[in-house]
Amino acid sequence: MLPSYSIPTCTFRLYPLELIQPQTPKRLLLLHTIIIMASFILYFFLIFMVKADPDPLQDYCIAQTQGSQPFFVNGVPCLNPADASPSHFTTTALSKPANTATNPLGFNVTLTTTRNLPGMNTLGLTMARIDIAGNGLVPPHTHPRASEVTILIKGSLLVGFVDTTNRLFTQQLREGDAFVFPKGLIHFLYNLDSKAPALAISGLTSQNPGAQLASAATFTTKPSIPDDILKKAFQINGQDVSRIRRNLGG
Ligand SMILES: *[C@@H]1O[C@H](CO)[C@@H](O)[C@H](O)[C@H]1NC(C)=O
Repeated sequence: MLPSYSIPTCTFRLYPLELIQPQTPKRLLLLHTIIIMASFILYFFLIFMVKADPDPLQDYCIAQTQGSQPFFVNGVPCLNPADASPSHFTTTALSKPANTATNPLGFNVTLTTTRNLPGMNTLGLTMARIDIAGNGLVPPHTHPRASEVTILIKGSLLVGFVDTTNRLFTQQLREGDAFVFPKGLIHFLYNLDSKAPALAISGLTSQNPGAQLASAATFTTKPSIPDDILKKAFQINGQDVSRIRRNLGG
């Protein structure tokens, strides 16, 4: 069942007043005003809750990544704007294919960061280059702080995400097709071609999207999640737990 957000304002609103006194037009007007105001407050509250990164307060805040940081802020401190240069707003980080042979799944994701693209600090976005070998897989994972839109540049991909009702949405992408993964939902990208590598580019709605792999977050955590919990959660035995841990390098 989906939770309902609008019902509460309606249910708790009037009963006390309505039951105590008969309605006059004036009082009705007042009540309606209160209801409308309450709805607005709830609306803005919800908008605030789903907001992406906070808005910047200046044109740019080029990440100051040199030297040690004497204090900690929500993001990365700004370089003196007088020292800004065009090079702070460009990067070659996404220009070369990354190595997909260093992991058994055959994928490699290269991100823009405040280190390789300091001009993106506080702008609320990240770009990603996704290289996937033949039949390679970016395994099911989530980005807790970002929605993601992916465009397939080369190859053919099967992409998909699962919503909170456990419904799967998949699509087979051809070159030039794009697909969007809503914020926080588990998703994957699979190269359908057994030989040709695939190349996709993503934009993400946070400068620090974060990534949690479903498999790693359960079987290769440090310290380990107790076996009994994994046995029960996945309805498997202790040998299964050990085998999956071993296979995932945990
Ligand atoms: C991704 O590719 C880079 C450069 O090609 C390599 O250094 C890195 O180890 C790779 N990462 C993974 C997770 O395979």
